[in-house]
Amino acid sequence: MSRYLINEKPSKLVGYSLPNRQALDFHSQLPGYTQAPLFSNHELAERLEIADLLIKFESSRFGLPAFKVLGASFAVRQWIQKYVDSSLEQTAGLAGLKNAIAGRDLTLVSATDGNHGRGVAWIARQLGVGAIIFMPSGTVISRIEGIRSEGADVRVIEGSYDEAVSRAAQLQNENTILIQDTSWEGYEEIPRWIVEGYSTMMWEIHDQLQHHQLSRPTHIFVPIGVGSLAVAVVNHFNSMQYPDPPRIIGVEPISAACALHAMEEGQTSPLEVCGPTIMAGLNCGTIASIALDPLQRGMDALIAIEDDWAIKAMRLLYQHNFSTSESGASSLAGVLALLEDQTLAHLKQYLEINQDSVILTLMTEGITDPTAFTEIIHGGK
Ligand SMILES: Cc1ncc(COP(=O)(O)O)c(C=O)c1O
Repeated sequence: MSRYLINEKPSKLVGYSLPNRQALDFHSQLPGYTQAPLFSNHELAERLEIADLLIKFESSRFGLPAFKVLGASFAVRQWIQKYVDSSLEQTAGLAGLKNAIAGRDLTLVSATDGNHGRGVAWIARQLGVGAIIFMPSGTVISRIEGIRSEGADVRVIEGSYDEAVSRAAQLQNENTILIQDTSWEGYEEIPRWIVEGYSTMMWEIHDQLQHHQLSRPTHIFVPIGVGSLAVAVVNHFNSMQYPDPPRIIGVEPISAACALHAMEEGQTSPLEVCGPTIMAGLNCGTIASIALDPLQRGMDALIAIEDDWAIKAMRLLYQHNFSTSESGASSLAGVLALLEDQTLAHLKQYLEINQDSVILTLMTEGITDPTAFTEIIHGGK
């Protein structure tokens, strides 16, 4: 059974300044930059009985199979500008950054269940600095190898994702910089830059909608791990001040519904038990401290779903030529649950999802665990 939370926020459009393209300008200068595609899939829309289904497909960012590198790379850029070279030009690309840190003995450190750590390792390699990445026990070997392939020192610990984060945090010093995609009191500056880095995805969507003359979404479904990506969605779409802003719906695994828990409690306390879930990127027990306020102000609803919906979504997407993981399919899984799970009938009505709806799903990764992918698609799981 799914769970949900309706957030009747009174002040949706208050307190947001117009978004800027700074992160997109930075990313577009990096080697290998291309927009992640935005698809409009009428066949799937027909199957879901809505007007259009938009899919932002993040299966290849700078050759990595997920969106996360957008955050890590921009945060490192901002850190260098603030703490190493304040005269760094806004237009400085990789060469400018390398110049700024030349002669410094830097290492980037982070914790991850896969994608973020690979992004940190990637930018470290681009800059010619070291990377140490902590991972929780039980991480599948393909995700570990993916990060090692970027040249990072990967340390798999006996413990959860939250414990991996605290191990990474302990290593911080003036030469070892923690680049973490979650936040807590006293550690919020870099996570905010990471959220800003994700704005590249939002500006691409904006430009792609215009370029392909597509209707703006009436609803956006975003997967939630610690909530940083959801903050980027809320910040962007509320700041654009559209007369008819889209409804924003967060999707979490029911066993790791840390945002739903935080919104219910009104504070960022951790879940007592977290996981297991096949949606590995969303298996987080504590929402980021910088996420709660924006989500309370800008999120319309949260849905917590069982793993079976992710399997169903992966299979459906595969039939329509999209190969994605359990986490990647989770936003569509949320749509399927909303349309088909009777326990969500009231929410569906509240969100006014009908034949006029244009739903945007953020499909945040490609295939990161080929074994699980094959088992799910070919029916073994
Ligand atoms: C594939 C994928 N999708 C979505 C998310 C959720 O992002 P966040 O943790 O910022 O909520 C993650 C997080 O690692 C992820 O790996």
